Amino acid sequence: MPIPQSFLDDLKQRSDIGTVISGYAALRRQGRTSKCLCPFHSEKTPSMVIYHENQSFYCFGCGAGGDVISFIMRIENLGYIEALRFLAERAGMELPEEEREDPILRIRPVIYEINRLAARFYHDCLKSEAGAPAREYFASRGLSSKTITKYGLGFAPPGWSNLRDHLRKKGFTDEQMLQAAVVVRGKNNSCYDAFRNRVMFPIIDLRKNVIGFGGRVLDDSKPKYLNSSDTPVFKKSQNLFSLNYAKGKTDRRLILAEGYMDVISVNQAGFENVVATLGTSLTAEQSRLMAQYADEVIIAYDSDGAGRAATSRAVGLLEAVGIKTRILNMKGAKDPDEYIKKFGAQRFKLLLEDAGSVTEYQLSVIRAKYDLDTIDQKSAYANEAAKYLATIQNPIERELYAGSVAQDTGVPAGTILTRVADIRKRMSRQAQKKEWSDIQQGKSNLPAGVSGTRSIGAVQAEESIIAGLFRHPDEADKLREQLTAEDFVTEEGKAVFGIIIEKLQQNSSVSLSDLPADLTREQMDYASRCYARQQGMELSLQVMTDCVRALKEYKRKESLKSVTQSDEEAIRMAELIRSRKK
Ligand code: GTP
Ligand code: MN
Repeated sequence: MPIPQSFLDDLKQRSDIGTVISGYAALRRQGRTSKCLCPFHSEKTPSMVIYHENQSFYCFGCGAGGDVISFIMRIENLGYIEALRFLAERAGMELPEEEREDPILRIRPVIYEINRLAARFYHDCLKSEAGAPAREYFASRGLSSKTITKYGLGFAPPGWSNLRDHLRKKGFTDEQMLQAAVVVRGKNNSCYDAFRNRVMFPIIDLRKNVIGFGGRVLDDSKPKYLNSSDTPVFKKSQNLFSLNYAKGKTDRRLILAEGYMDVISVNQAGFENVVATLGTSLTAEQSRLMAQYADEVIIAYDSDGAGRAATSRAVGLLEAVGIKTRILNMKGAKDPDEYIKKFGAQRFKLLLEDAGSVTEYQLSVIRAKYDLDTIDQKSAYANEAAKYLATIQNPIERELYAGSVAQDTGVPAGTILTRVADIRKRMSRQAQKKEWSDIQQGKSNLPAGVSGTRSIGAVQAEESIIAGLFRHPDEADKLREQLTAEDFVTEEGKAVFGIIIEKLQQNSSVSLSDLPADLTREQMDYASRCYARQQGMELSLQVMTDCVRALKEYKRKESLKSVTQSDEEAIRMAELIRSRKK
């Protein structure tokens, strides 16, 4: 159901982006823009810019962007309508009557209530006679009754319809329970309990709503864990288990574990600043969420192969949002839960303090693969270590660690460094190739004001066209004669262009703040990036027409060329683009 335009206009009028953002970060005004430390990632120098004239923001560090509504959606972790409500409340306004009829809006409070009642039901079952096996299970895992209460742990009894029947008695329909994902629909169309004969871990958001559940079997049967599927109130990729407790205790430092039981054990041992993902691997969104509370994350994943792979991945994602990472080097236990049980909280504290840099960790992982008593193995280790050292940017750090590999192997540090230098040369050629292919796919993150001449890079060309549409909506018809969304090279470009054109056909102008209801978060980031990067650039119809030509030319060449670009050309293009960055 559409929200009346008049209401939106009024709301935006009363929600100045500068004033709203200044509730989250200290702004420094510089003429028509303001700058601040980006609240979506950790940083020491401000890279978020607020454009007062069109009420938008864009972070040149992490690429987050949008208008005041998308800002609130992101920082408060809200849906579009909820963000409107949030801003309305702040501005002393009320959402219009029809809005309450929005089906999603109506179902959310119902789902929260169903989840709350389900959590209570599971918790009561745990305490009931039928809950004895589950109580024994938790006891066997060392959880105190205080911890069980703190986390609201529960037990889903065996049987197909205990919770369903309970909720029916409370007046909920099967349809509503399905939406909350506490029941699933069977073949004969009837609904049965999603969780049966499992110990239950409620997942609670920062507003203390129960948003979903994890459930574990009591024995060795499979699947070991089951998580609620995503619902209108629960997105696994956007939430973290126990962030509600960790939030106030971070000291700007969080511990990231793999599973529910690890988090609960670590928390019970006195370290409340611990979170875990919800049965999936870490996402960029979760990293940004963590960046709001932490500058440093200690990764405490399992010590097995899968845990190590997940660790490398997490390091990349966390460092991308400016978080410093350290890695727990756990020996003698498979995960933090087991470690604490075996060695106690005090030893775990030492382990935390001792958590080393990524480099130390990676080298120790590589070293552990080899038996350093034989010459062959020493040489294999030195080679693999050199490959890894080649990925380190800081030359001093490379020297230091080359020294430690030299000590382990007896190979002189100089020899190792020569090998490292060779590998780096090769890598830099490959990186240039990749850089160009990223630019083609619109993945590149060039800094602001890149383009002097803008007819070269197809990606910059499309950014100029989009920014031009914001500035000169009157030229849209002429542009539309020249190109369609399909002419764009990036997926975001296609989508954003299509939506802007559609809006312009209904209205005489379109601004960034008309878009958040129609665009995904990535598309909104993209639209703001176009606007932010083209500040101070000339965007006349002539320039836009040049850009259209550049896009078409690019597409034409692409279709002529075989799928793979020759190495030489890729390198040349990357060099070209790099020279324009300076
Ligand atoms: P415990 O055996 O209870 O100590 O659990 P753990 O956390 O040590 O288990 P594991 O390392 O196997 O799993 C870590 C996390 O991955 C769990 O907390 C779950 O969130 C998730 N997970 C594990 N097994 C499954 C599964 O079978 N299905 C799904 N969806 N998630 C799982
Ligand atoms: Mn475990």
